[in-house]
Amino acid sequence: MKIAVISDIHANTLALEEVLKEIKKLKADKIFCLGDILMAGYDPNGTAELILNLNNLEIIQGNTDNMVANFNFELLEKAKKKAPCMGYALEDDLKIINEKYKDFVRNLPQKKYVEVNGLKIELVHGSPRQQDENIYPSLALDEVEEMVKNSDASLILCGHTHLPCGYALNSGKTVVNVGSVGRSMTQDRMPNWAMLEISDDGTFQIEHKITKYDNKKVSEIISQRGFLHADDLAKMYV
Ligand SMILES: [Fe+2]
Repeated sequence: MKIAVISDIHANTLALEEVLKEIKKLKADKIFCLGDILMAGYDPNGTAELILNLNNLEIIQGNTDNMVANFNFELLEKAKKKAPCMGYALEDDLKIINEKYKDFVRNLPQKKYVEVNGLKIELVHGSPRQQDENIYPSLALDEVEEMVKNSDASLILCGHTHLPCGYALNSGKTVVNVGSVGRSMTQDRMPNWAMLEISDDGTFQIEHKITKYDNKKVSEIISQRGFLHADDLAKMYV
């Protein structure tokens, strides 16, 4: 069984299309999507439509999906203060995102267990204990162990930080952060995702993947969106 794992698309339809082409070429049987599909990109409705049309999809909600779905004025002001380009992007996104896609992400679970060939997998956005907790590449093993101690799964898949990494813990659990399709924070800014291959006996291999796409084009489109601090957001793509 081959499963493509994607996360943090952030309304970047161009990046998602390129990744989906590669997933099709590699003949994945399923796709897991770990959330953050809508906010702070250039095409939330187009991205949502692509996601909704995928077959054999397991999907959970990310923290920014939650922000879009359960928006209120106080949250928006807080977001603008914390990271102005994100706050103003959210304000602009709320004007253009179709209500049916807000409903879609509102109703997604924050985490999910999936069992494949006896392998128990937990899908989370940040960590098993918190939707917006960061599993970064630089953490100590015992810090990660603490974050996943209440998970029953042997394999925990996460995103959120936009930086891919992986941990083989002393407890026997494996934790893999697949990075971001739509706004990667790696040096080259190219989409990151992972391919998981599970044998009939439940043993598995997981491999980080990088797909090339036209990041400069997306950066230009974002700077043209015209909301306050859009240029700062655009710089994050190149
Ligand atoms: Fe994200």
